[in-house]
Amino acid sequence: AIDYKVDSLLAIMTLEEKVGQMNQYNGFWNVTGPTPQDGDAAKKYDDLRRGRVGSMLNVRGVKEVRAVQKVAVEESRLGIPLIIGFDVIHGYKTLSPIPIAESASWDMEAIEKSAKMAALEASAAGINWTFAPMVDISRDARWGRVMEGGGEDPYLGSLIAKARVRGFQGKDLSSASTIAACAKHFAAYGFAEGGRDYNTVDIGTSTLYNTVFPPFRATVDAGVMTFMNSFNELNGIPATGDSFLQRDILKGKWGFDGFVVSDWGSIKEMIDHGYAQDLKDAARLAVIAGSDMDMESYAYVDRLVALVNEKKVDVALIDDSVKRILKAKYELGLFDDPYRYCDEAREKKITGSKEINEAALDIAKKSIVLLKNELNLLPLKKEGQKIAVIGALANDKTSPLGSWRIAAEDETAVSVLEGLQNYNKNEYTYAKGVDVTTGRTDFVYELDINTTDRSEIPQAVAVAKKADVVIMVLGEHGFQSGEARSRTQLDLPGLQQELLEAVYAENKKVILVLTNGRPLALPWAAENVPAIVEAWQLGTQSGHAIAQVLYGDYNPSGKLPMTFPRSVGQVPIYYNYKNTGRPNKQDDRIVFWSHYTDEENTPLFPFGHGLSYSTFEYSDFSINNEFNTNGKITAQINLKNTGIFKGKEVVQLYIRDKFASVTRPVRELKGFKMVELTPRETQTITFELKKEDLSFFNNEGEFIFEPGEFEIYIGGSSITTMGDTVTIE
Ligand code: IFM
Repeated sequence: AIDYKVDSLLAIMTLEEKVGQMNQYNGFWNVTGPTPQDGDAAKKYDDLRRGRVGSMLNVRGVKEVRAVQKVAVEESRLGIPLIIGFDVIHGYKTLSPIPIAESASWDMEAIEKSAKMAALEASAAGINWTFAPMVDISRDARWGRVMEGGGEDPYLGSLIAKARVRGFQGKDLSSASTIAACAKHFAAYGFAEGGRDYNTVDIGTSTLYNTVFPPFRATVDAGVMTFMNSFNELNGIPATGDSFLQRDILKGKWGFDGFVVSDWGSIKEMIDHGYAQDLKDAARLAVIAGSDMDMESYAYVDRLVALVNEKKVDVALIDDSVKRILKAKYELGLFDDPYRYCDEAREKKITGSKEINEAALDIAKKSIVLLKNELNLLPLKKEGQKIAVIGALANDKTSPLGSWRIAAEDETAVSVLEGLQNYNKNEYTYAKGVDVTTGRTDFVYELDINTTDRSEIPQAVAVAKKADVVIMVLGEHGFQSGEARSRTQLDLPGLQQELLEAVYAENKKVILVLTNGRPLALPWAAENVPAIVEAWQLGTQSGHAIAQVLYGDYNPSGKLPMTFPRSVGQVPIYYNYKNTGRPNKQDDRIVFWSHYTDEENTPLFPFGHGLSYSTFEYSDFSINNEFNTNGKITAQINLKNTGIFKGKEVVQLYIRDKFASVTRPVRELKGFKMVELTPRETQTITFELKKEDLSFFNNEGEFIFEPGEFEIYIGGSSITTMGDTVTIE
């Protein structure tokens, strides 16, 4: 029925109106990309009236959305409603943890719920389309946008991608509580050379098929409504103009029937890439390649009609794009009621509601990863403790909101200090020590990272001296990661390392609470500091979540979704690397093997690592190989809680395909289970592996299975050694 409606509408549209549907303008209030010179408000309003706009982004709140929707619906000839897009990346006004943090929960139900809550709050503010999830796999912590993704692994990343799509879109897209999702950025944006955002990508076919594509494919399987292409070039072709990616793979092989939006200005940027000669050429290349909607390039709206009239672009391509866009609008129910997301009373009731905040707190606790816990420092004693709380980030109510928080007001997060003080009556003394950044900290401006003021370090040391235990909250400000926030160093910015060492010299009972948007390389801390808690940027409920975990009300269960390096020089570092031809040292004196002369090959904290206040013992690993008879291999293990607390463990299964026609990684995650055990309880955990788990993509993009030897491992992180080999004839 929708197809019929779409065709009927298309039949009465002029070419200019069709092209209008393919045009997306930024709103008048916020920018999330370079400010366009030719995008003045008067032109935008005029274009809205003339039916030359199909979508707007960065318009938010019922009042603003209604205002622009009204012009499109009531003043344009055909009254086609706008689809309103917004970066609802980890919540709207109430923020949940940044996506990399949520990914550390390995809890698909909680991740789905978080996206559902984000959709609920955003939809109540008039928004019907989010530019999320970002499903770019990345192995480079220098790249600031790792904060926005699911980490380094395609298997985990695919499950997370699906969970987020399900959460945003729900079962019924036409419901006023769900919004369309957008898988981005297609493709390989996370492989920017040197981790520098927007940089060239140059990766091999095998990585593209086996690592980059799977999470995107997973979103298609989950019914994602839209895709966004990416800023980078791949094999010399900007993704926006790449028909291999958009037509052959996405719309061809995968049968994606939604629409593709360009990234901000990425059509126009093909000129700077050296691919398109001018804006008209860029419009031509992008539409031929399968980019259906132009975000802020002014290329389609101003050039496509002429290109069709001059027979340089086939109108069939325009029709195809418009059909895809109209279909999405029908499915969202916008034709039934263009104002269905514009209910002021609902907006008031839902924004910041108890339900949304409770969900944000729940996933915030689940996102925390306990990296190290010695001297029994954690969980903290609930009474009679003098606690020093040190670090500017401990008293910050904005940084925990993380990057991508356009709608959230500054200072709306619960700081760590507040969370602790609110939690109990222990004596807390706060000292800033040093600033993390000075000056403006917002999305569009460069951050000042040259903090040189050491004057308050002595006071922090004095506070530490009098304390039973010291909580140091150090790391990155919320806007030190995110888009265009690439770094060459993965240390603690500014003078925080100096502060850490000065405090530690005075009082060794330091609990380091890290808040950061990417893996950091902190070898000194890992070696010396007894307890380290990875608390990322946990959103609105941050301080409450951290307090509840530090005091043991929630026993940490998170596991790293990305490898933490020892030094920047190891990057890219990831668990599923290839063995190389010279993996091992043969002889103590001979240098010719794959290694560094000044650093180990191993990570500081491996992918999948994460402790609990309980301890878990793995034993009795066994494999039952019924592949040839029943098409499956069963692997099992006994897991015992040997600690004194009830706790959860993410039991992980990895394989290694030992010999293949295209070499395979030394480890590949193929399954995991979250298991909760009471003290002394033991459970047998069983995994099943089938043919597809043992298959891979060859360099022709075919998913193939090759019999042979496979190693199978089970354990609590990617470096588990508990395993065995099976042979499949
Ligand atoms: O959705 C984003 C994208 O990820 C980066 N450029 C701007 C878009 C819209 O804000």
